[in-house]
Amino acid sequence: MIKAKDSIYKITPYVGGESGGKEGQRIIKLSSNEGPFGPPPMAVEAMKLASENAHRYPDGGCNELRGALAAKNNINADNIVCGAGSDEIIALLCKAYTGEGDEVLYTEHSFLMYAISAKAAGATPVTAPEKDLTTDVDALLAKVTDKTKLVFVANPNNPTASYIKRDEIERLHAGLPDDVLLIIDAAYTEYVDDPDYTDGHDLVERHNNVVVTRTFSKLYGLGGIRLGWCHAPAHVIDVMNRVRGPFNVSIEAQAAGVAALQDDAFVEKSLSHNKQCRTKFVTALEGLGIKVYPSACNFILAELEDAKRAEDLRLALKDEGVFIRQMGGYGLPTCLRITIGTEEEMDIALQAITTYIHKCNE
Ligand SMILES: Cc1ncc(COP(=O)(O)O)c(C=O)c1O
Repeated sequence: MIKAKDSIYKITPYVGGESGGKEGQRIIKLSSNEGPFGPPPMAVEAMKLASENAHRYPDGGCNELRGALAAKNNINADNIVCGAGSDEIIALLCKAYTGEGDEVLYTEHSFLMYAISAKAAGATPVTAPEKDLTTDVDALLAKVTDKTKLVFVANPNNPTASYIKRDEIERLHAGLPDDVLLIIDAAYTEYVDDPDYTDGHDLVERHNNVVVTRTFSKLYGLGGIRLGWCHAPAHVIDVMNRVRGPFNVSIEAQAAGVAALQDDAFVEKSLSHNKQCRTKFVTALEGLGIKVYPSACNFILAELEDAKRAEDLRLALKDEGVFIRQMGGYGLPTCLRITIGTEEEMDIALQAITTYIHKCNE
């Protein structure tokens, strides 16, 4: 029987956030960091219109979308490549720049797709320790070898919800050799409102070895259509255009992306809701004696006394139809990641957590 490359069998397949429930039960899915309000209404309209042309191949260059992204982010459209989610961009970067004998570096509790994509390309994933569940620049730099090709920094990071500031990102870049690509994964960038933070686009403009990846799956509520993009120097764009599929972004996804970028009402509502609801939820959890790590994202990371407690709480919520995610797969089995849903969903989640904690304290 034919076999794939050895490295493929080292991959632990990605398991998405839980979503199935008991028959007839209302499901509250807080397990995948999706937006709470459905897709942007303007994107839904645009997708309906675009689907009338679904018999045509999409624009392989994503020209209108790249133009809209460039205008929105004040960058050059020629330095953008779009993909089927930032997952695809991450995979293409690994495929293009790494192979057997190469190393892909990232922090220890970071997004699982870095390991999966590195292994799929035949490369070796290498992790650096974090400090208080936050990227530690010195630890990352200490792990750089002459085999290192790519360094991924999710900023903010999933699942820790933490981020490092501009000066630390600059220090990390300054410590890397020119022939190592620094990839700033800015999937949650829109949620950060710290003036000392950078999404990384300015570094891409100034350096030849920095890439920023972005997604429509979080703030823009479009995880289901698979749309992401990267901002990169011309030589990386050239490589990405060689390795990607010619029509890797569907006609509906391109239309939805353009429309979502114009849906200011949706974006403002989502951002202000996230901030207000997250604060309220965190305060309530802390009131119950649960440790919550600071979050700059649309999810929070809570820590229980031990893995058993975390598992029991997850199951107690599941029983009520509330799906959250235990972080064993990310090396944090005592932690639970909870996405910020609607106000009502968070009230129901909190009620179930309160009941569980009170039962434990009896
Ligand atoms: C840090 C990080 N990067 C990238 C992604 C992938 O996003 P996309 O839906 O664009 O593939 C995620 C999704 O959860 C994420 O958490």
